[in-house]
Amino acid sequence: MKKKQHFLLWMCVFVMSMYGCSGAPVSKMKNAPQDESAHVHANKPEEDLLSPDRFLNIAHRGASGYAPEHTLKAYEIAEKMQGDYIEIDLQMTKDGKLIAMHDDTVSRTTNSKGKVSDFSFSEVEALDAGTWFNEENPGLAQPAFNQLEVPSLEQILDAFGTNANYYIETKKPEENPTMVDELLTVLKRRDLLDADVPTGKVIIQSFSKKSLLEVQQKAPSLPRIQLMKFNGKATLTDKELANIKQYAVGIGPNASSLTKAFVQQARKAGLLIHPYTVNEKADMKRLIDWGVTGMFTNYPDRLNEVLGR
Ligand code: G3P
Ligand code: CA
Repeated sequence: MKKKQHFLLWMCVFVMSMYGCSGAPVSKMKNAPQDESAHVHANKPEEDLLSPDRFLNIAHRGASGYAPEHTLKAYEIAEKMQGDYIEIDLQMTKDGKLIAMHDDTVSRTTNSKGKVSDFSFSEVEALDAGTWFNEENPGLAQPAFNQLEVPSLEQILDAFGTNANYYIETKKPEENPTMVDELLTVLKRRDLLDADVPTGKVIIQSFSKKSLLEVQQKAPSLPRIQLMKFNGKATLTDKELANIKQYAVGIGPNASSLTKAFVQQARKAGLLIHPYTVNEKADMKRLIDWGVTGMFTNYPDRLNEVLGR
């Protein structure tokens, strides 16, 4: 082959590697969708749970769009809908038991009132955790929801075992200084800190940097996500993102604060980005197009439809 033909052949190979067979430019950012219609994120089983190429469907408080939040039923539906993670908010009872509850009072999601820290676990267990949902959502109400209980973290882990993935939030750890220790004790007791547990099977998230640093110090193998809430547009300097990278694998910002530039800045900094809480398909699509690596949703089935799974 003549020199000129060689040159043309290599130029052709180079151009194809840059632009792909479709002729569209291939983004340098892995997992960044190419166009409006591209939302297919069929995860490969061999892919690391924390790979930026893997898109995480995080069932926010379980499939809480369909059943009372943070009940075994909501988690069960999330699993059936093939959410990648069950999200669990932790509160601590008077007798030091970790329970799944978003608020620090039982008032919104049970038939009682008062601070969680004033209830023992047996008192919490006796509460009705579903009637409120039936009353607020007549179209989704089910008689069986009235029987639902507030589960402890241990009960959740016993029910879903090592097949499920858990995305656990330490809520108000400053008011419960033993929360991280108790969490690690429970995880250890349920074999979730063993060396053979796949990285990312349990993710710890918190708005509290201090709590994440404590987890990093006491159980460094557990990946951590820094939650954040911006009132306006999300902004962080590259230095702030680099600081977060020292103790967390990613960030969890409120979805409404996000801009494409911020998402790309976070990705460039090597961080995962999991916005909360995204329930409308149009928002899911937009954020996927911007390059987020997962999201919290009350509707894991909807997200899977958008993802083409
Ligand atoms: O943990 C992500 C998201 O759930 C944070 O907000 O208030 O729903 O716990 P919140
Ligand atoms: Ca949460």
